[in-house]
Amino acid sequence: MRTFLALLVFAAACGAQTAPPVAPAQPIPFSHKTHAGDLKLQCKMCHPNPDPGETMRIAAPPVCMQCHSAIKTDSPAIQKLAAFARNGRELPWVRVYEIPSYVNFSHRTHLTAGNKCEECHGPVAQRVQLAREGNISMGGCMECHRVKKAGLDCTYCHDERQ
Ligand code: HEC
Ligand code: HEC
Ligand code: HEC
Ligand code: HEC
Ligand code: HEC
Repeated sequence: MRTFLALLVFAAACGAQTAPPVAPAQPIPFSHKTHAGDLKLQCKMCHPNPDPGETMRIAAPPVCMQCHSAIKTDSPAIQKLAAFARNGRELPWVRVYEIPSYVNFSHRTHLTAGNKCEECHGPVAQRVQLAREGNISMGGCMECHRVKKAGLDCTYCHDERQ
């Protein structure tokens, strides 16, 4: 909790200097507030963490269609979703969180160490649209590593130059 508060204070301090993050337009207006908040669906229903565990995934349309073959079928957004499902295609979601490939990062090791989604991604279940409100800059990584006594050496997150 204390860590979480420290991060919030840190995020607020950064936020004071910069404009609030803007949510990118998505192909379908998907709401985490509806699905993870009101319906209380588990994150892992739509975000599995396949081996070796570095990345999360975003569920493909058939997972959505477990409900949406019957729910809101008259909605244009759901009709678009259904068309992608029929054609076996993924939706072209626009990435919100991304770090360069020269940084080592694994979701699996962070989750195993007890870090929560919200510590890095903010109160997702309250958001109608997702913007990049969590701080995953080098400073953001370092701040938590300092508080939780994880590594701070350059080679902890970057490979040595050959
Ligand atoms: C467990 C059931 C369930 C799953 C799984 C599910 N949804 Fe939903 N979804 C709902 C319900 C319930 C609503 C709210 C319907 C209402 O407003 O009456 C909803 C609403 C929506 C809406 C708003 C539709 C509108 O026009 O109001 C969109 C868009 C949507 N879902 C997309 C998705 C996508 C994309 C996925 C998969 C990544 C997904 N849903 C997975 C149950 C589900
Ligand atoms: C019903 C399916 C569903 C559930 C449940 C769900 N998500 Fe998502 N999530 C999505 C979809 C679809 C997107 C892509 C659209 C967007 O960014 O809003 C997404 C995007 C995200 C992203 C941004 C990914 C990127 O582009 O960087 C994060 C972070 C995230 N979800 C976290 C969570 C967390 C944390 C929970 C649980 C509190 C959760 N999600 C529950 C479907 C879901
Ligand atoms: C320690 C910080 C941290 C935690 C905890 C965390 N994430 Fe992330 N997340 C990130 C970073 C950093 C990225 C960007 C990764 C990249 O670009 O390789 C990311 C990216 C994502 C993405 C986009 C796909 C991907 O893997 O790049 C999704 C979806 C996501 N996170 C969901 C979640 C969910 C759900 C949880 C909790 C179960 C969670 N995250 C916990 C930091 C975190
Ligand atoms: C919310 C706190 C938190 C944030 C934010 C965070 N980390 Fe960590 N990280 C940890 C903790 C705690 C450990 C220690 C895990 C262990 O020793 O088991 C760790 C371990 C690691 C490790 C070593 C384990 C492994 O996966 O090989 C790397 C590399 C790492 N973090 C990179 C990053 C990067 C890059 C970022 C920013 C994009 C980041 N971390 C953001 C808490 C955090
Ligand atoms: C806890 C993880 C972590 C540690 C430790 C770390 N970095 Fe980084 N570093 C990052 C991340 C994440 C980025 C990418 C930031 C972005 O582009 O959003 C980055 C980016 C960089 C960049 C790209 C320049 C820039 O600002 O875009 C350089 C250079 C760099 N790091 C050098 C270092 C040096 C030198 C050290 C040791 C003093 C170090 N890093 C320690 C996570 C880390």
